[in-house]
Amino acid sequence: GKRMTVPAIKSRKADGSTAQPIVMLTAYTMRMAQLLDPHCDVLLVGDSLAQVIYGLPSTVPVTLEMMCAHGAAVVRGSWHSLVAVDMPFGSYESGPELAFASAARILKETGCAAVKLEGGEAMAPTVRFLVERGIPVIGHVGLTPQAVNALGGYGARGRSEAEAAKILADGRAIADAGAFMLVAEGVMEALADDLTRAVTCPVIGIGASATCDGQVLVIDDMLGMFERVPRFVKRYADLATEIDQAVARYAGEVRGRSFPTAEQTYRPKPQG
Ligand code: KIV
Ligand code: NA
Repeated sequence: GKRMTVPAIKSRKADGSTAQPIVMLTAYTMRMAQLLDPHCDVLLVGDSLAQVIYGLPSTVPVTLEMMCAHGAAVVRGSWHSLVAVDMPFGSYESGPELAFASAARILKETGCAAVKLEGGEAMAPTVRFLVERGIPVIGHVGLTPQAVNALGGYGARGRSEAEAAKILADGRAIADAGAFMLVAEGVMEALADDLTRAVTCPVIGIGASATCDGQVLVIDDMLGMFERVPRFVKRYADLATEIDQAVARYAGEVRGRSFPTAEQTYRPKPQG
């Protein structure tokens, strides 16, 4: 099969609503990408790798090097899904030219098709600059984790009328600047509904609304790898328990010398 393209994703909302919702998950490694790829339209190499892979307290310390290394691994592990890579904090905010250099490096070093960046109206000129120069951009509004130091936490956004209006304006500005897709994270449901209706590009929800044009989750969260996850995460598996039980069995067999057995050891071939 052929890999999903930006125009194909955009055209899902051609008639103003998305008949076939867009399936998106994060991926950070080759093997996980291989497993998710057949089921997804978009694989996002999120800067959530900060917490998921590196145990960092926020996404703020993530570097271009980290995003490029994991982005390349996910591209190598997929053949069907469109791969998008997050631009890390500090690699784009100061201006369109820095953003272009960073985004170009991500595309060149990973082979991904698109980048994602956080922010609203202030980032619109940067989105336009990238799009006009051949770099497809996904926007990200609402709860923008790279701004955790300004927001003061990871609570839902758009609770007040003023904040909801601001986020709606942010989403419109990024869409008008040419973003082919928009992630709406951690926003009130009604705001997500309004935003989905207000823009012509697909809106992908995470902690948003079922009326969005698609959904995304952090893969480790939905697989039950973490004890504490946000309210908007539904757990589709309990891998932490699976892994705990498997490793406990292994440890017991090592300590009891019942692993390895003949099946797992090399012995001389019988001589004829
Ligand atoms: O970094 C990430 O995983 C994301 C998604 C949650 C949208 O930005
Ligand atoms: Na992110």
